[in-house]
Amino acid sequence: MKFGFFDDVNKEYVVTTPKTPLPWINYLGCKDFFTLISNTCGGYTFYKDAKLLRMTRYRYNDTTPDTNGKYFYIKDGDTIWNPGWQPTKTELDSYECRHGIGYSKFTGLKNNIKAELITFVPVDDAVELTKITLTNTGSAKKELSLFSYVEWCLWNADDDMKNYQRNLSIGEVEVIDSTIYHKTEYRERRNHYAVYSVNTKIDGFETSRDEFRGAYNGPDKPAAVIEGKLHKTIASGWYPIASHQINVSLEAGESKTFVFALGYIENAEDDKWEAPGIINKKKANALLAKYQTTEDFDKAFAALNTYWNDLLSKFHIESKDEHVNRMVNIWNQYQCMVTFNMSRSASYYETGIGRGMGFRDSCQDLLGFVHLIPDRARERIIDIASTQFQDGGAYHQYQPLTKKGNSDIGSGFNDDPLWLIAGTSAYIRETGDTSILKEMVPYDNDMSVATTLMEHLKRSFDYIVNHKGPHDLPLIGRADWNDCLNLNCFSEHPGESFQCFGPSEGPVAESVFIAGMFVKYGREYADLCKLMGDNAEADRVLAEVDKMIKAIEKDGWDGDWFVRAYDAYSHKVGSKECDEGQIYIEPQGMCVMAGVGIEDGNAKKALDSVKEKLDTKYGVMILQPAYTRYHLELGEITSYPPGYKENAGIFCHNNPWISIAETCIGRGDRAFEVYKKTCPSYIEDISEIHRTEPYVYSQMVAGADAKFHGEAKNSWLTGTAAWTFTNISQYILGIYPTLEGLSVNPCIPAEFGDFNITRVYRGVTYNIEIKNPNKVQKGVASLTVDGVEVAGNVIPFDGSKKTVSVVATMK
Ligand code: BGC
Ligand code: NOJ
Repeated sequence: MKFGFFDDVNKEYVVTTPKTPLPWINYLGCKDFFTLISNTCGGYTFYKDAKLLRMTRYRYNDTTPDTNGKYFYIKDGDTIWNPGWQPTKTELDSYECRHGIGYSKFTGLKNNIKAELITFVPVDDAVELTKITLTNTGSAKKELSLFSYVEWCLWNADDDMKNYQRNLSIGEVEVIDSTIYHKTEYRERRNHYAVYSVNTKIDGFETSRDEFRGAYNGPDKPAAVIEGKLHKTIASGWYPIASHQINVSLEAGESKTFVFALGYIENAEDDKWEAPGIINKKKANALLAKYQTTEDFDKAFAALNTYWNDLLSKFHIESKDEHVNRMVNIWNQYQCMVTFNMSRSASYYETGIGRGMGFRDSCQDLLGFVHLIPDRARERIIDIASTQFQDGGAYHQYQPLTKKGNSDIGSGFNDDPLWLIAGTSAYIRETGDTSILKEMVPYDNDMSVATTLMEHLKRSFDYIVNHKGPHDLPLIGRADWNDCLNLNCFSEHPGESFQCFGPSEGPVAESVFIAGMFVKYGREYADLCKLMGDNAEADRVLAEVDKMIKAIEKDGWDGDWFVRAYDAYSHKVGSKECDEGQIYIEPQGMCVMAGVGIEDGNAKKALDSVKEKLDTKYGVMILQPAYTRYHLELGEITSYPPGYKENAGIFCHNNPWISIAETCIGRGDRAFEVYKKTCPSYIEDISEIHRTEPYVYSQMVAGADAKFHGEAKNSWLTGTAAWTFTNISQYILGIYPTLEGLSVNPCIPAEFGDFNITRVYRGVTYNIEIKNPNKVQKGVASLTVDGVEVAGNVIPFDGSKKTVSVVATMK
């Protein structure tokens, strides 16, 4: 069953009922100022950091889900309704929500009044703009009132939920004309405040939530709206809000439009006050002055669309498969931007008060983002590397605002260092900018010990060389990519963190997954060494890589698939020898992507085993058989009920690894079959089963052992976005950036047909035509570049050209 449809021309998903299985959300904001907005106008706003600089309040685990947001109420006689249905839930005569790229549009119709609402964050300003147009579609004159509503949060979203004894006494506001200034904590150490304004004279305002709602009413029955009159209260403590009242009379057929602006302002310490106790409003007024008219709004909205169209044009495919076109050209790239901005911090499943930027997460997010805005990727790489330790280890997370490592979690996740190589290599392959390798980058933010980024990569690599176990395989530490495989933790008591409890490392527990990563990213590091002329280092690295391949072949192979790990007793994990958890997806994907087992046939065997043991109609499960009891020696992975999350869920993140691995052995049909299973657009038809948004990937789909097999959770913020985009664009469609130039080497289903790709790379636009006359799955017979045939798969890079035409004919 569907709850909407894709509008590809407008790059929108059109939700046609407010009663979606779960809130289906969108993100507004490209750089520093962000809003999460659901299909019923729920959500919240923050500046840079969802924990420390939260602007509006969201209520988690609420009994009526998703009932805090930025709402507009329309009072039309005795009927009170919202264009997005929530929170009054008054039945609408018609409803539509269009989630677009960086904006959302809502259209609600009730009793001959149409309300059209567009909301977005302009590219360069810390403000959310909403244009609302009310139209009288009937034949009689109407007198209505429009009320806005936002509920402020007390800035630190974590404190907001815990520290009432303080917070309920600190709320302060000012109101001038149509602008409400929210200035809680501004009197002391804060240098920021928020504004909510509308471009028309108002007939009332409210800044106290209790006055607006009535102390015992929910947002569905606000007393002041029912009365039809806001009382102009100036809040003092308790729950400050901002609400405007505009009385509107509409002749038959008449429309009126209002522009609302919700902004964030920072003042310099010595410029905070205009008069004692009165905040300096210069910057706020300048910001609001920019968005006073409908024309201002439309201009900024057009600029946002241009910004996005330009970004999305960097990779564009025309094929006969509408799902691939839509996901590649629009939604997958869009999700890559969102994951780059948010890491795993703020979604409807991540509260914004927990995790900051993940070291491994952000490095992987770069893989799907770097082609969009390489400069921002460059800055991110430096930020991430700056949190690395001198021995090559890394803080597992850092705070987006301070960019400092998070010492509560600390380090010891032994895959982390290698992801830095992955991200940096992707950046250099994309841009050719080797200057980044010479940048001086601190360790643990201490500039006095800074070295070049290249030295950081060396230390990342050597961290693994220096942390090996009894089988010469990498020690796993607290966990590797699979955060829940905690082989040194032995947590027995509830409340202990699975990952951070116990020693950060034991001398025995090893990871075959990290071994695969070491081979893959060790080689990419060696390529960078060669590029920089350090052949001796490249030779040393490749010799270490060879040793690791031998260790995998000797102790990392189980007969039909790769072993997952060795636990603290040196027992195998992910082996036929185990009762449960005999085969895991991660080493099959990573080792084959690294090229291990391709020559001797083990890669094919491993992938056949994946298909036989882990595949389901909804995607490939992370392991089988599921763990049915808690294993102290394995940790959190065995804490989940069978079929959920890391315990045999379909962890979407590593499905593309299997798909890529299939392309490495040339099986395009199978690679694409795996791609399709978790691809949102392909499964739109089963939205009642899948339940999360049909336009973005979710972290997890419940596996075959779960009660709700096929049901997804944790949408939006997942490495699935970056890895899937890498998979489809670089491996299946086969446009892979190498250090020398773009390579063209698709691995597609026999029936995929011919296709065209436009790819902007290092400032040059490549128009690539791929022909497959003999319906092969892999192999390019000829490559012509501007009419001249070239040998091999790589288009030689020539920066003097603006556009290049390429024709690749498959065998
Ligand atoms: C989740 C993992 C996640 C980890 C982060 C676990 O509970 O299952 O997916 O990476 O928490 O701390
Ligand atoms: C989600 C985490 O963000 C990511 O870092 C981890 O690799 C996966 N869960 C698997 O545990």
